[in-house]
Parts: sequence; structure tokens; C-alpha cells
Amino acid sequence: MKHKLIVGNWKMNGSMQSSLELVDKIITHNSPAPGDKISPHYVICPPAVYLQELNKVINKSVVKLGAQDVSEYANGAYTGQVAAEMLKDIGCDYVIIGHSERRQYCGETDEMIARKFLAALAQNITPILCVGESLEAREANQTEKIILGQLNAVIDIVGAEKFAEGVIAYEPIWAIGTGKTASPEQAQEVHAAIRTLLISKLPKEIARKMMILYGGSVKASNAASLFVMPDIDGALVGGASLDAKDFLGIGEAAKMPHTN
Ligand code: 13P
Repeated sequence: MKHKLIVGNWKMNGSMQSSLELVDKIITHNSPAPGDKISPHYVICPPAVYLQELNKVINKSVVKLGAQDVSEYANGAYTGQVAAEMLKDIGCDYVIIGHSERRQYCGETDEMIARKFLAALAQNITPILCVGESLEAREANQTEKIILGQLNAVIDIVGAEKFAEGVIAYEPIWAIGTGKTASPEQAQEVHAAIRTLLISKLPKEIARKMMILYGGSVKASNAASLFVMPDIDGALVGGASLDAKDFLGIGEAAKMPHTN
């Protein structure tokens, strides 16, 4: 059985003070008591300017730190960008790559995203690659074509073996910040198609181990119904990750019984 992975994408929200308070609540909750069920693994992705300070608090806990973006370049004259080596330096183990908001507002292409994926891996940072379709694409029955196209574009550049070191997040654009979650069946259908793609590219064991997260209006109230789906390995959470109770409620839904 895999641990579920619960990732909080704080996007461009909060202050130093509110970030420290939120992290404190998440860490306090994650001190396991004897007999506890197996907890999910948590990652928080705060705004870049708070990463270093928050790392001082979370580096003694089981919670991991992630960034929301990384430069595709190793270093140099790229004003405003942050290199993977710098993220590693301040304690990041994960980075979100290719979020639909960056594809839309910053013009990120599949090729740039693939280079960011490689830049992260080169520093032992796990990339969380986001893919997702628009409402128009879904209504035109293009969902699978779009999602597999976005994944294949990255696999073609990074190679299947390196791709397997990442995490995938399926985030339908129409479900992000809208309160409209994909139904568990809709999400599972896409996750199963992603798994089938992985199985066609990788040894079966490795393809099955790869984490495929769902994102888009995940809340404590709908998380359990998503997590029972066989190919949903966790969640990438936006709005609900800004409130400790809501975020940890999603984590509660991801707890699993000990099997022995
Ligand atoms: P919401 O959970 O606010 O819909 O955001 C999802 C998301 O974009 C996470 O990356």
C-alpha cells in the first residue's frame, strides 16, 4: 500500500506571520501517537519568499517543503528567476511544475516545463508535473487526448526513466478554484488513462508506484470519495490548503489502516 501524498499549493497568498501560524498548526498535528493509522505524507508549497524561514520550522518535522515554480536554467542572467540549486539550498524537496496558471499567465510551454522537470531532478528535487484540460476540451471529448499529449510532450524530452522520478497532478482547469470538483469517477477515468500510458512506457512495478494526484476544489468533505479510487494517490490542494483545519481534514481522509 502506498502512502497518500497531500500537497498544499498556497499560490500567492498569506504573509510571513500567517504562514508561520499555518505551518505551526500543520506540524503540531503531525506528531503521531502510538496506534495511529498510517498518515499521508504532507508537502507544503508556500510563496518563494517565505520558503527559507518556513524551512527553519518544518525541517525538524515530517512535513516536506516545496516551491511553486523553478527556472529551467541552472544559473545566469535570468532576472527574477530562481534556480533549482537555490531551492535545494533552502530546503526544498519538491517543486510544482507546469501549473495551469503558469501555462496560462506566464506562457509556459510543454518544452519549458520539460526543461524545468530536468532542472529539478538534477538537484534531487521531485517535480510535481501538473496537467489538465479546459472546459471546452472536456465538452469536446478531448480530455484524454490533451492530458496524454501534455504528458507525452514531457516524456519525449526527459525520457521515461527520469520521468518516473516525478509526481503527476491531474488538475482539470474547470475544477480549479471554482468549487466544481471532478466526480471521483471522472477523475479516476483520467487517472486510469494516465496509468495505462505509464505502463506502456515503464516497467509495470514502476508505473504502478508513480504517484498521480488529483487537484481542483479538493476539500475535506469530498476527499475521501476521491481517495478510494484505485489510481488516485493523493491531492494537490489550493484554497483548502490555506486553512489548517481544512487541509488536515483532507489528510485525515487519506489515512490508511495498518495492514498488520
Ligand atoms: P483549488 O483547490 O483552490 O481548486 O486549487 C487547485 C490547484 O490549483 C492546486 O494546484
